[in-house]
Amino acid sequence: MNVPRHVGIIMDGNGRWARKRNQIRTQGHLEGLKAAKRIVRAAADLGISYLTLYTFSTENWKRTADEVGFIMGLVKQYLKSELDFYRENRIRIRHAGDAAGLPADIARELVSVCEDTRNFEGLQVVLALNYGGRDEIVRAVRRLIENGLPAGEIDEALIQRNLDNPDIPNPDLIIRTAGEFRISNFLLWEGAYAEYYISDKLWPDWAEPDLQNAIAHFQGRERRYGGVNS
Ligand code: FPP
Repeated sequence: MNVPRHVGIIMDGNGRWARKRNQIRTQGHLEGLKAAKRIVRAAADLGISYLTLYTFSTENWKRTADEVGFIMGLVKQYLKSELDFYRENRIRIRHAGDAAGLPADIARELVSVCEDTRNFEGLQVVLALNYGGRDEIVRAVRRLIENGLPAGEIDEALIQRNLDNPDIPNPDLIIRTAGEFRISNFLLWEGAYAEYYISDKLWPDWAEPDLQNAIAHFQGRERRYGGVNS
């Protein structure tokens, strides 16, 4: 069956999940982390090659210092506590986003986990952290200009090759949870021809059957890339 090679997920609804239960927002993030672990396992089981998780956007710094600190703490905990699992399952961790803008301890941990797992040939999990689609394109164009490229030579292929993970194929399927029809600055360039799937379920409630449903939906779509199918 045609399993999407690269799936991106906008993990939304942690705050609403907590509010519905009269709990503080951070409790929703804690449950969101558990969902992320479930979905990484499910993606590996289902034979997906690349999974990009929108973990912290360039806009998420606007949240309270407490909430930002809590999410960063979760990320650090996730990176440390799952290392054995990555090793056992040959999972490679990668980063998309501006590492220079991350707290130094998180950036260090991220570099270390990416390095430790770089030769694993199983599922590749891309953590989009301090990530913004516009920011990624700006950084790519800056790099080209810094390398002295004349304007006339800049084309789509060159920009693609200067994005954060140029070797990763563009996403086939982008999922957003919690019912909003918005792209929120996620994989703007890479998602140009992705199929989009919106789920009403809040992220902390996501489990393997939800990913299977999204894939089944994807398999029912006809991708034309701007052309016409006979
Ligand atoms: C969106 O919910 C969630 C986030 C901005 C944070 C995502 C973080 C996690 C799921 C935990 C860490 C995960 C990994 C992989 C390390 P929201 O707070 O915007 O929800 P709301 O729209 O209902 O308020």
